[in-house]
Amino acid sequence: MRGRLITVEGGEGVGKTTNLNYIRDLIEKSGKIVRSTREPGGTPLGERIRELLLDPAEQGMAADCELLLMFAARAEHLDKLICPALAAGEWVLCDRFTDATYAYQGGGRGLSKQRIIELEQMVQGDLRPDLTLLLDVPVEIGLKRAGERSRPDRFEQEAYDFFERVRAAYLERAAAEPGRFRIIDASQPLAAVQAQIREALAPLLQAGAAA
Ligand SMILES: Nc1ncnc2c1ncn2[C@@H]1O[C@H](COP(=O)(O)OP(=O)(O)O)[C@@H](O)[C@H]1O
Ligand SMILES: [Mg+2]
Repeated sequence: MRGRLITVEGGEGVGKTTNLNYIRDLIEKSGKIVRSTREPGGTPLGERIRELLLDPAEQGMAADCELLLMFAARAEHLDKLICPALAAGEWVLCDRFTDATYAYQGGGRGLSKQRIIELEQMVQGDLRPDLTLLLDVPVEIGLKRAGERSRPDRFEQEAYDFFERVRAAYLERAAAEPGRFRIIDASQPLAAVQAQIREALAPLLQAGAAA
């Protein structure tokens, strides 16, 4: 049986990376083999593309270049890791995926949604996540957390308004696809965030156990 693709989304500093291991453990405890990975990146070539995308020295990168690099990295990720794993019945847990492209390059940079839809279709065919956890916090809280974590990358150097557009675009996507998305209030303490994550995952894990 084909595995499941679970994606974790949200803006800067919402807690995606912090919660990834927790989510992986929950899936493993239900008896699945799970590969955790991230975008952009997840493969050797994809990680090289990630470096280009996050490098503050590439400040003037054309928005279309950024969009195409995101999908270039994704094509490699699908080819080398995601599709083979799903075909082998493994579950894939990904720190960001195509919703991030709609949020950052669409919402943040203002690129045409229609073009993103076309690239998504070209690169992914019919593949979409089975479940997407959207970790949502007010922008100022996320930026504060991210700021305490490390030096800002190229995206983290954007202005406040950019992140408001990113957050709005994420919430709009979640509202448009309520069956796939679960919104997690990630402004709460970690234990409360993880309780919400457990609840959000339970139906899929139970369905997987029955199959
Ligand atoms: N629920 C939480 N409450 C307080 N701080 C948190 C919470 N979740 C994560 N953090 C902290 O916020 C920072 C950013 O978290 P991180 O997981 O790196 O975010 P992301 O991967 O979404 O950018 C880290 O220092 C992390 O320890
Ligand atoms: Mg992270």
